[in-house]
Amino acid sequence: MRIIMLGAPGAGKGTQALLLSKKFNIPQISTGDIFRMHIKNKTELGKKAKEYMDKGLLVPDDLVVEIVKNRLIEEDCKNGFILDGFPRTIPQAEELDKALEEMGIKLDKAINVNVPDDNIIVRMAGRRVCKKCGASYHIKYNKPSQEGICDECGSNLVQRDDDKEETVKKRLNVYHEQTRPLIEYYEKMGILLTVDGVGDVDEINNRIQKALEVNK
Ligand code: AP5
Repeated sequence: MRIIMLGAPGAGKGTQALLLSKKFNIPQISTGDIFRMHIKNKTELGKKAKEYMDKGLLVPDDLVVEIVKNRLIEEDCKNGFILDGFPRTIPQAEELDKALEEMGIKLDKAINVNVPDDNIIVRMAGRRVCKKCGASYHIKYNKPSQEGICDECGSNLVQRDDDKEETVKKRLNVYHEQTRPLIEYYEKMGILLTVDGVGDVDEINNRIQKALEVNK
């Protein structure tokens, strides 16, 4: 299964991608997590990406596309993958199409998790993420078993630098201008599944699994 997760920042792409990744036993590839790892390791790429991320802007296409292309050729992507947060612009989607064509493979589904902007602001304010593995929680809606500790790997949970309200608003604007057009792009391709992203995490996961089942 080769899946793309679409949706606004904070729509729950990461949360749902992790559940699907476990269900199908395929890797979740989050470009945001890859950049955060580079920032943590103070690499050149991390320094460049941070300038954009802290402002709520997208990292330039050329930097993102190379990372994803290199990741997709790794062994663990052989049986499929879930792209979480990529593509985010039409040029990124076109580059992905070209790369997949060269690899002789196709996307199966683009899952659009649909959440209104007002809900997003509340979700981001309460989000806590794992410093080590990137898993995402919410202090009220998606609590870890032990407060402040990641269920997946036991590391500490922290608030993301770009989850300040002003930066979230900027990210939402960028989403509506640059990323939302991808919904039409994948609709035309005939692989779009739009799922209502309001409700609890398991409920949304069930909706996604049903949609995948019905539209096999
Ligand atoms: P990235 O890390 O991809 O951030 P994003 O797309 O803005 O998405 P988020 O991770 O913020 O949210 P999400 O949809 O995964 O939601 P989550 O599951 O965490 O990107 C960060 C930055 O990196 C970008 O701004 C950009 O600068 C750069 N970047 C990354 N990819 C790029 C690309 N391709 N091109 C250019 N630049 C790129 O959930 C959010 C919160 O809600 C959590 O607290 C969660 O626990 C909670 N929650 C989840 N589901 C529910 C629910 N059903 N009900 C209530 N709460 C819920």
